[in-house]
Amino acid sequence: MNELENVPVHVSIIMDGNGRWARERGLERAAGHIEGVESVRACTEAAVEYGVRYLSLYAFSEENWGRPQEEVNALMALMFKSMMAELSNFLENGIRFVVLGHRERLGDELNALIDDCMEKTAGNTTLTLVIFLSYSGKWDILQAAKKYAREILEHPEKADGLLSIDEEAFGRYLVTDGIPDPDMIIRTSGEMRLSNYLLWQSAYSEFLFSDVLWPDFRKEEFRSALLAYSKRDRRYGKVK
Ligand code: FPP
Repeated sequence: MNELENVPVHVSIIMDGNGRWARERGLERAAGHIEGVESVRACTEAAVEYGVRYLSLYAFSEENWGRPQEEVNALMALMFKSMMAELSNFLENGIRFVVLGHRERLGDELNALIDDCMEKTAGNTTLTLVIFLSYSGKWDILQAAKKYAREILEHPEKADGLLSIDEEAFGRYLVTDGIPDPDMIIRTSGEMRLSNYLLWQSAYSEFLFSDVLWPDFRKEEFRSALLAYSKRDRRYGKVK
């Protein structure tokens, strides 16, 4: 039964607290990331169940490349393994799988698997699961500006449009083209910052900060977040 009212179309999550979850248990940080994948699965299932159409997850930022090489390798290996394991689940449950970010920085092997998962699930419509990998908001805006500038250089006849471009048209140069802006951004583990996430796209997102560490953020926590969202009054800068 879906008794929730006003379900957000797009829920986005900054998954945080894996390291602390592991430390609290005297485990390696990697153990927190492995347990975090279970939360990814739980929240994906919950999103399908509650009729959320887009679930996006900040899995690895451009800044995360600066973590110890061992942890970076462990995270990339975990992404690879999880994608291999979940493809059949995506196909069975109508989930379209999308990876967005600075793809050139990912290895050939991971990129080939991402392409395969994206192609095979492209026609699915129940839920779009977006994984932000090697992503940052400033990088996204900059790559959009460069793409736009390149287009002008290659097509000088379009130069007049340069000054008349509007926000909607500029948004189409961002890697999130075609994905609606997030209605709600959840950050776990009690941290209250955006950490260079969807800077442009979060202009009118509702924020929900949860003290729960990501590996403990499961269906019930996801449901509570949807409930909190349903009580928010969104005015988009206007008067109601
Ligand atoms: C933040 O916790 C978590 C990450 C940087 C990685 C999140 C990635 C996963 C859960 C794996 C995702 C897998 C798929 C398939 C999407 P932290 O390490 O910053 O924790 P801390 O702040 O407690 O140190």
